[in-house]
Amino acid sequence: MYLVRLIYTSRVTRENDAFGPEEISSILETSKRNNQKHHITGLLCFNRKYFLQSIEGSRHEVNKAYERIMRDSRHHDAVILGYEEISERAFSNWHMGFIPESSVTKELITQFGLTDEFEPYKMNAESALGMLKALKSLIE
Ligand SMILES: Cc1cc2nc3c(=O)[nH]c(=O)nc-3n(C[C@H](O)[C@H](O)[C@H](O)COP(=O)(O)O)c2cc1C
Repeated sequence: MYLVRLIYTSRVTRENDAFGPEEISSILETSKRNNQKHHITGLLCFNRKYFLQSIEGSRHEVNKAYERIMRDSRHHDAVILGYEEISERAFSNWHMGFIPESSVTKELITQFGLTDEFEPYKMNAESALGMLKALKSLIE
């Protein structure tokens, strides 16, 4: 079975000059187009400071997409939180679903994190996936 899921977090590069809705729309447009072509599904969560993203699909395509995403200067300091073979997708409805900051409530952050601040660098794969799954249910 070569279906895999990769979860990573990264820091937005231009944190102080409002990384605004146009930049997010542009990322999502490209992501949806490319991901559909390569049968990749997933979720992207953004809170002005950090990205938390899950991408799932064939090992080959996920690896290629991750390499491509890592070359993007709009973010940096990426850390892979989890990479695993899976038997089913968690985000099959989304070529790239987007979770806006307003959905990431303090309750949810506390449920999956150490404090009530969104600090994805301090999350492990299981809690990051748990949080993304909980967030997914809000946009379905
Ligand atoms: C946080 C973040 C997440 C991204 N996610 C994806 C993605 O899931 N799929 C994708 O193809 N590109 C994604 N991109 C965009 C890629 O970095 C890159 O710009 C794009 O794949 C280039 O595609 P193009 O050659 O068709 O323009 C993401 C970029 C950022 C900053």
